[in-house]
Amino acid sequence: MTPQTAVHPALNRVLFDEETLRARIKELGAQITRDYAGKRLVVVGVLKGSVIFLADLLRAIGPAVDVETDFVAVSSYAGTASTGAIRTLLDLRQSPEGKHLLLIEDIVDTGLTLTSLTETLRAHHPSSLEVCTLLDKTECRKVPFTPKYVGFKIPNEFVVGFGLDYDERYRQLPCVGVLKI
Ligand code: PRP
Repeated sequence: MTPQTAVHPALNRVLFDEETLRARIKELGAQITRDYAGKRLVVVGVLKGSVIFLADLLRAIGPAVDVETDFVAVSSYAGTASTGAIRTLLDLRQSPEGKHLLLIEDIVDTGLTLTSLTETLRAHHPSSLEVCTLLDKTECRKVPFTPKYVGFKIPNEFVVGFGLDYDERYRQLPCVGVLKI
């Protein structure tokens, strides 16, 4: 058994190990710092999948950006299949009007969640609204959606770890891997 397959018995293989994730998140943090330098930015974690990525990304954003954090929660998945139904479970604490918002996601898949969420938030007139996702499954889109910041594009495989779950399990894995199904 190689060290990669030994990470967790539920994984077929590791797509991105800790070191690779750390390095890419550092790059994203630097890019966001350049883009929002001198501004106040509300970094919005989309619960729950974004939490691990968000925690690392926040610490990769430099002091040139005045960062606030907030969270929203929406629901779109049951098991491994997208239902297409989006429910808002938790809304922002403060109005997004006039603010620079950056939504943080673990994955964009069909694009339904972010399309719905960004449409809802845009109705509240933020100064700007962008999306940063760790993973992007571009070939699975049901609606066109292009996040501004993408950690990695991935093929159409069911991935878990680093915040991503299968029925609420495996979020704690320090890597992103393909689940054995
Ligand atoms: C995942 C992910 C996105 C959404 C992306 O959330 O965090 O919010 O699915 O899928 P889509 O592009 O097909 O809409 P999920 O509903 O699994 O909830 P979780 O973040 O709590 O795991």
